[in-house]
Amino acid sequence: MTTTTRTSDIRTADLYGPQGAAAYHDITTRDTDEIVDLRRAVRRTPGEILELAAGAGRLTFALLALGREVTALELSGALCRLLADRAALTPAALRTRLTVVEADMTSFALGRRFGVVVLGTTSVSLVDEPGRRELYRRVAEHLAPGGRFLLTTRSRAAGHPAGETWTRVEGASGRGYHLGEQWTDPGTRVVTLRPETGPGEERVEFTSVVRNLPAESLASELDRAGFVVRTRTDLPDVPGWDHVLLEAEVAS
Ligand SMILES: C[S@@+](CC[C@H](N)C(=O)[O-])C[C@H]1O[C@@H](n2cnc3c(N)ncnc32)[C@H](O)[C@@H]1O
Repeated sequence: MTTTTRTSDIRTADLYGPQGAAAYHDITTRDTDEIVDLRRAVRRTPGEILELAAGAGRLTFALLALGREVTALELSGALCRLLADRAALTPAALRTRLTVVEADMTSFALGRRFGVVVLGTTSVSLVDEPGRRELYRRVAEHLAPGGRFLLTTRSRAAGHPAGETWTRVEGASGRGYHLGEQWTDPGTRVVTLRPETGPGEERVEFTSVVRNLPAESLASELDRAGFVVRTRTDLPDVPGWDHVLLEAEVAS
């Protein structure tokens, strides 16, 4: 999954690949976005939790704190290792309830069912439409009767600035980064993370392509895939963004 190309003097690599994973974790590890709302929604349905696209565990540890078994599924081997390393530092009562699975959320088969499947951080936007159809099929196969699929999406609101924006952010390590967002068309943005470098350090940037998926589009897709959307919750965000948590279950 890691693609590396060289343009002028800056190397471009996958945001979730071996090098990008550490940078992604550095800038997101203190981010509490979605945690309160996802935990509230998860509490409403009993049973074991399957978290898709778990990354280095930003949401995973908050879900484990609910006292339930959590299976964290993640495509990037580098992020799976980061998650496992972080879990190893936690008390046994917590880490023994965690299972980390390196797999693709569009093609996994765990051979068991869960009370809740969580797909947070708008990670559904990383998958194209055929992939999302496969994703919904896998989720339905892994949900226990009455189980819930919780997914979030963050899409541009009317009046959202098009083009390219850059902001400076600081990672938990104290390292500075430049975070860019470039809309290639109204339906797609490229997120770029450039670590600040000192003299003699290699210049590198990490990128990820994110689709713009408004909640209404996702709700229609879920409907076509045999789900019923039970609740839709607007989540707080900065102006220019619509941020929504959808709670769905397989139609009976
Ligand atoms: C926006 S990050 C979210 C990570 C984590 N949930 C968080 O909140 O920090 C998206 C994650 O989705 C993972 N991912 C992308 N495509 C995937 C796929 N097809 N299957 C599983 N994980 C995938 C990436 O590797 C990355 O860890």
